[in-house]
Amino acid sequence: MAHPLFGAAYYPEHCSAERWSIDARLMQQAGINTVRLAEFAWSRLEPKTGVFDFAWLDKAIDILMAHGIQVILGTPTAAPPAWLIQAHPEILPVNEDGQRAGFGMRRHYCPTQPAFHAATRRIVQAMARHYQQHPAVLAWQIDNELGNITNGIRCHCSSCRTAFQYWLQQRYGSLERLNSLWGTVFWSQEYSAWEQIPTPMRNVRPGSPGSAHNPSLYLDFARFTSESWVQYQQLQVQILRDLCPQHLITHNLMGLFPYINYVKLAQDLDVVSWDNYPRLPTPWSAFKGNWSPSHVAMAHDLMRGLKGRTYWVMEQQAGPSGWGRISPTPLPGEIRLWTLQSLAHGAEAIVYFRWQTCNVGTEQYWHGILPYDGTPGRRYEEICQIGEELQCLDTLVTAAFPAEVAILRSYDALWAFEAQPTAEGLSYDDQIGRSYRAFWRRNVAVDLITEDSSWESYKVLVAPCLFVLREEVSTRLHAWVEAGGTLVLTFRSGVKDAYNRVIDQPLPGALRDLAGVHVIDYTALLPAGAGVPCGGPESLELVIDGTIHRVGADVWMDDLEVKDAEVLGTYRGGPFDGAPTVTLKRIGAGRVIYVGTSLDDRGQALLMNKVLDETGIKPGVPSPDNVEVVRRVHEGTDY
Ligand code: GLA
Repeated sequence: MAHPLFGAAYYPEHCSAERWSIDARLMQQAGINTVRLAEFAWSRLEPKTGVFDFAWLDKAIDILMAHGIQVILGTPTAAPPAWLIQAHPEILPVNEDGQRAGFGMRRHYCPTQPAFHAATRRIVQAMARHYQQHPAVLAWQIDNELGNITNGIRCHCSSCRTAFQYWLQQRYGSLERLNSLWGTVFWSQEYSAWEQIPTPMRNVRPGSPGSAHNPSLYLDFARFTSESWVQYQQLQVQILRDLCPQHLITHNLMGLFPYINYVKLAQDLDVVSWDNYPRLPTPWSAFKGNWSPSHVAMAHDLMRGLKGRTYWVMEQQAGPSGWGRISPTPLPGEIRLWTLQSLAHGAEAIVYFRWQTCNVGTEQYWHGILPYDGTPGRRYEEICQIGEELQCLDTLVTAAFPAEVAILRSYDALWAFEAQPTAEGLSYDDQIGRSYRAFWRRNVAVDLITEDSSWESYKVLVAPCLFVLREEVSTRLHAWVEAGGTLVLTFRSGVKDAYNRVIDQPLPGALRDLAGVHVIDYTALLPAGAGVPCGGPESLELVIDGTIHRVGADVWMDDLEVKDAEVLGTYRGGPFDGAPTVTLKRIGAGRVIYVGTSLDDRGQALLMNKVLDETGIKPGVPSPDNVEVVRRVHEGTDY
């Protein structure tokens, strides 16, 4: 496999066949060695049920291969054709408002529908049989951005509802057990038949935060839907493994996308890929349009952590983008900047989205490397420059990324906060991002992991707002700290059990002895000026090694009773004036820092410096603001 993989998403079906040789030549000139093909081409590959046409794709692949370009084939299931929907309208997903999607977009399918499974098997088997021996095929991309339903978040059709009820039956065994663990006595929600259990359709006004369903039901439905995507992917993985054992299998994930447990999705893949659009406001992201370089870095690290090694960037933004509106264009040099950042964080492939801008369809405004008329311009020149530079980066691409710090991002916590956002301004990913940024600014390598990963080899584990805490996770945390680990916990930790019930013990629940503190009171904070109570700048004093620093806090304040810990920070003013808020407890060679509020950047930085000093972790090479230095190690040499 050539390193790095360097390429673009290419759509021969969007242009005339005369253009294909011109494109292949331009690609070769730019150093492109890989293209992704066909992930939305179902209607051209199977124009009628069971009638296949691969001739056009064969021809395009032959031309590419003649120019030294290998291909990643997409299975086209993200775009079910009109004939399939006409025959099986039940395939269309139903959103949280009970509305069934219509034909006219993409991703208009429910992952549990038997008719869709049958159609998937047919097209994937046909493609796999046709291309199993093709020398140009390197890998398969399954579907495209699983779970990225545009007209809703999760499917609520009758097939999903029945499957959910069955899933619950397997999980709980009896209705008595489910009723008891969910607390359905509240508001007379006790179930006497599995068929009575609903999916959590919207029951609050549109725009209101969260859901008013039983939180236990909500969390289980989020787990179930995540698993249904994993299973749908497995259906395709199995076919490809059987028919094309020599090909790699990947899927293009979406960084911080919160609705699928990506660790589980990644398990069945050979390599994780993801789609990186630093200048794209994503509806589901905590950062909306405000992607900062540290957020992009964090998304890379999250993707790298899924399989604990290099990953691919399957779509790298290569132009101004948008459906209805066009985002600002990448500035000269910015595509190169994003590419180098991706490589620095561990990407082994860079595939730009897309080769040429398309003049038809929903993505007319989604600009690729080439403009509508296909004439190479400044973006193409930049790609050529990168292509040349990449020749020298061969060694670095697979070099190790040694990290001593991990940040824990839990899907259970994401979903429990989704149901109950808990406080104005509290976003789980924002809390993760604040911790991340403190390390990132000092060029300290961080891995992002979940509670199901192993963290035993790290020196430091930061677990912001570990809202849902399963018993075995708490046991592992205890053992690891006792063995010398440094754990950083924050407010809203240990609040819920595995069933999303608030635990009836002082917070942070099962972690309270480990932290040496009890939360005796708390308050949500409103933004400054919005009323009382609010946090704001200088709302607490942090004493680090004898020096008092005034720092800001917002979102939340815990009032702590310190049982067995050293106080590092106290509130100044506000409802808990003078009470402790940041503590440190030493346990053998290990320690636990508890932070009862959401610190501003300065507070985070001071605290992280303390963590680095205490644990002997060396900060990275110093750099000016927003200049990132990443250390990679290959065969004993530091790069
Ligand atoms: C996603 C998809 C692509 C394309 C781009 C731009 O990342 O995977 O097919 O639609 O967005 O919208």
